[in-house]
Amino acid sequence: MTTTDPRGQIFIDPTAYADQEHWHAVAAALRAEAPVLRVEEDGYSPFWAVTRYDDVFAVSRDNERFRNTRNSVLGLDAQLAFLDTIGIEPKTLIHMDGAEHRDHRGLTNAWFRPRSVARRQADIEAIAADFVAKFRDLGGTCDFAQDIAVPYTLRVIMSIFGVPEEDEPTMLRLTQGLFGAADPEYLGDLSDPFAMVLDTIGQFDDYFQHLAEERRARPTDDLATVIANGEVGGCPMDRHATLWYFTIVATAGHDTTSFALAGGMEALLRHPDQVRALQAAPDLVVNAVDEMIRWTSPVRHFLRYLTEPATLSGVEVPAGDRLLLSYPSANRDATVFADPMAFSVSRPNANRLISFGGGEHFCLGSTFARRELRTILPLLLAAVDTIELAGEPQWAHAHFVGGVKHLPVAATFR
Ligand code: HEM
Repeated sequence: MTTTDPRGQIFIDPTAYADQEHWHAVAAALRAEAPVLRVEEDGYSPFWAVTRYDDVFAVSRDNERFRNTRNSVLGLDAQLAFLDTIGIEPKTLIHMDGAEHRDHRGLTNAWFRPRSVARRQADIEAIAADFVAKFRDLGGTCDFAQDIAVPYTLRVIMSIFGVPEEDEPTMLRLTQGLFGAADPEYLGDLSDPFAMVLDTIGQFDDYFQHLAEERRARPTDDLATVIANGEVGGCPMDRHATLWYFTIVATAGHDTTSFALAGGMEALLRHPDQVRALQAAPDLVVNAVDEMIRWTSPVRHFLRYLTEPATLSGVEVPAGDRLLLSYPSANRDATVFADPMAFSVSRPNANRLISFGGGEHFCLGSTFARRELRTILPLLLAAVDTIELAGEPQWAHAHFVGGVKHLPVAATFR
């Protein structure tokens, strides 16, 4: 199907995701009528938006026919061309394929295995307890997104990284500079989102090169030491590879999880019966967290390139074209999730969520993300008697990683 269907805008316009009801209504119509939609919008090379679960799943798992190489996130052609001219080529795990990807991922794989993550449980619990106490100290009212979800998830990821607490504000600013660049709230003095991203990359470079030098000189047992001293094919990673490795772990590990927590909390509070169900049966938390991550789908898309022609939901896509995998849409596909627009902590197959992607690029940090949410939720719900929304949530403007950025909440503590 070739079209300039205006519905393709929902994948590009950073403000579109802020109106979830509209966004999901359009996505549902696309799943039914045009599940593989060719989108041609000014400034963007054409892409095919893939919205059904089975297609997103099949593409994710076939890393031979559907490659990651080149740009993995939707951006304006002019901006990508400009990056080329100034010699900036993002090269994270996400941008690699085949042996190169396996070798790089192998460097830190052990750190993210369930057993290694489980060893961090005491630390995660201590951090979670601090933030529940902070909520209580705030008198039971707060902006749950900014006061709890953001700093909690940041502190956990920085603690495994080995970044000291006093550097957390810098890391927060840099992550928001990269992912939140389309949101006026994060633009700071720069009025141009792209200038913001470039500026941020430069600052990440300075910060991480300093950290890498430090860990080479004085190795410790943290993740930064593993990356700084990482060897691929018997050779140390170069400056460029090291920078991008640090960047992907620091950024992918933070905003995603905080949006899952803040948006998941919003969903819970809009369904007080679900809060009570979880308070009455804390074991439900494992399932509840998967439902929260299905519901929020903080990563909105990744791109894949076809190495050969393929047919998806009856649509032929030529070799060389690119697919946009829409995780929020796939997560609302009624062929997999009964009554998909209902939020239910006891959904029987919530663990089929596709928010973490699939195949060789399946989210490296999924165990961490789940554990972070599974740890703080029961602590919080056991501490409060009542908890409810205290105002209208606000959504970040972002077409890549996003969700609820302000969540006014009021609680009475036991
Ligand atoms: C709810 C939270 C999270 C969500 C929704 C999420 C989502 C994703 C998605 C969709 C991908 C790409 C998968 C694909 O291409 O098939 C990914 C990759 C990745 N994620 Fe996550 N993520 C989350 C948390 C984390 C955390 C906590 C970390 C690190 C501590 C992390 C680190 C990474 C890395 C390094 C990759 C690249 C893996 C590769 O290309 O091999 N993520 N994530």
